[in-house]
Amino acid sequence: MLYLLLKTIWLLIPAYTPNNFAVVFGGGMPIDLGKNFIDGKRILGDGKTIRGFIFGVLGGILCGTIQFNLEKFFGLAFFSLLSFMDAFVLIVSLSIGSLTGDLVGSFIKRRIGIERGQAFPFFDQLTFLVFAFLFAYSFSPFFSYLFTLDVIIAAFIITPALHLLTNYIAFKLGLKDVPW
Ligand code: CTP
Ligand code: MG
Repeated sequence: MLYLLLKTIWLLIPAYTPNNFAVVFGGGMPIDLGKNFIDGKRILGDGKTIRGFIFGVLGGILCGTIQFNLEKFFGLAFFSLLSFMDAFVLIVSLSIGSLTGDLVGSFIKRRIGIERGQAFPFFDQLTFLVFAFLFAYSFSPFFSYLFTLDVIIAAFIITPALHLLTNYIAFKLGLKDVPW
């Protein structure tokens, strides 16, 4: 169980970290260029910026590349079961998929009238995951080699829990005003 938990988190780091990089390095021009959709509401909103997307994707790729090399160094074999190029394709797909899912999530939130920054529990935590898997499945022939069914099921259980836990820690550290 613990092994599955740790393996799942490790494999998902290239999908988890892009949003953190987007938070830190984002800002500036929104991806929707400030435009509204046909319903008169913003297409995506000011929370989705071009810089956030680019640095988020690069951040996820950086983390995955570091992970690959750490595995080699410590004699572990998850991403490094694959050649560097094959692992890289998988990592890039997870990272781009994650932030694309984040955009899809915001698009849907705006359509149903949830304001930018307003939490939409479970949805906020799961759209990025679904798209990270969809992209990795579509672009990497080795997806199902690492992401076995047990890992995918664990991911859907762990991700919301992990999110709640990190928010609670951020709250305790005084980084957030509310514990969710
Ligand atoms: N961010 C960004 N560009 C992105 C994604 C995120 O600049 N493509 C930054 C924004 O500053 C954003 C913050 O990261 O406010 C937190 O991201 P997220 O929670 O995904 O966005 P929200 O502001 O909550 O907006 P939404 O309601 O649309 O999810
Ligand atoms: Mg948010």
